[in-house]
Amino acid sequence: MLDAAVLAVRFLQYAGAALLFGVPLFFVYALPAGSPGPRGSRAMVGGAAAVLAVGSAAAIAVQASVFAGWLTGESLGAVVTYMAFGKAALVRTVAALFALGLLLALPRGRWRWSAVAAAGAVAAASLGWMGHGAASEGPLAGVHLAADVLHVLAACAWLGALAAFVLLARGEAGRAQLHPALRTFSALGPALIALLVLSGLANTWVLIGPDHIADLVRSAYGRVLLAKLVLFAAMLALAAANRYRHTPAVAEGAPLGPVRRSLAWEAALGLAVLALVAWLGTLAPPGFGL
Ligand code: HEM
Repeated sequence: MLDAAVLAVRFLQYAGAALLFGVPLFFVYALPAGSPGPRGSRAMVGGAAAVLAVGSAAAIAVQASVFAGWLTGESLGAVVTYMAFGKAALVRTVAALFALGLLLALPRGRWRWSAVAAAGAVAAASLGWMGHGAASEGPLAGVHLAADVLHVLAACAWLGALAAFVLLARGEAGRAQLHPALRTFSALGPALIALLVLSGLANTWVLIGPDHIADLVRSAYGRVLLAKLVLFAAMLALAAANRYRHTPAVAEGAPLGPVRRSLAWEAALGLAVLALVAWLGTLAPPGFGL
């Protein structure tokens, strides 16, 4: 029961952070300055902030329960005072609530999305202390944590952009903004994916390493990571179809059905990757002396 709660709370935090950071960031670089964003975007970002705040607070409570066998004020205090995990989860809770406040208080437009994206970036970066990124010791510890934080930010930026695209491609109303946004993302996307792969390789180097390559198949951790890479490859194929087939077709006035489906599938695969990541962080990496 507790294991399922741990996985669910981890997944909610990854998904919430991807939307809270990635969607407003996308609106800042891909939509015209005064654009309020497609219908439903404020509700999506606000909902993500609320889910992330609740998920992060729940993570502290679950950790405190694991820590002391049951939840007490003392164990809660100990988790947020003495554990990096707890401090990071507290920062995440506060950043998510702050983002929600900004979303409700600020007038619509690029400034609002920039402020919410900044608070979302703090929340997303704090996830680096939720997986194995902060568990390293020795000379590579700082590099590993930095690579992991970059990895989470790149992952959230990509998946958030996909969620925003799904909203934009929903109706004909979004067509005018969809093509320029697809073109802008076609320019930025490859850099984002390169950052994701390089930081992912750095993570893999520290957590598995050249001496344990065979454990990619032999260990539960390795098999979950391989499954993640298979989903990643499928996402890359859909991203290439969006870039080279659907984007030009949309410019020529083609029906939005095919691009809408492709974006929805890519976003769904992204969510599946986050579910595997939620699981991955609870398994023992073969190259890691845990
Ligand atoms: C769609 C693409 C991807 C997404 C959305 C994604 C997302 C994530 C996230 C959110 C984390 C958790 C970080 C943490 O909690 O500390 C993570 C960890 C990780 N990722 Fe990725 N990633 C992607 C691609 C990759 C690739 C291409 C690689 C390898 C080349 C990779 C290797 C790893 C490793 C080894 C970890 C560490 C997991 C742990 O804490 O044990 N990822 N990924």
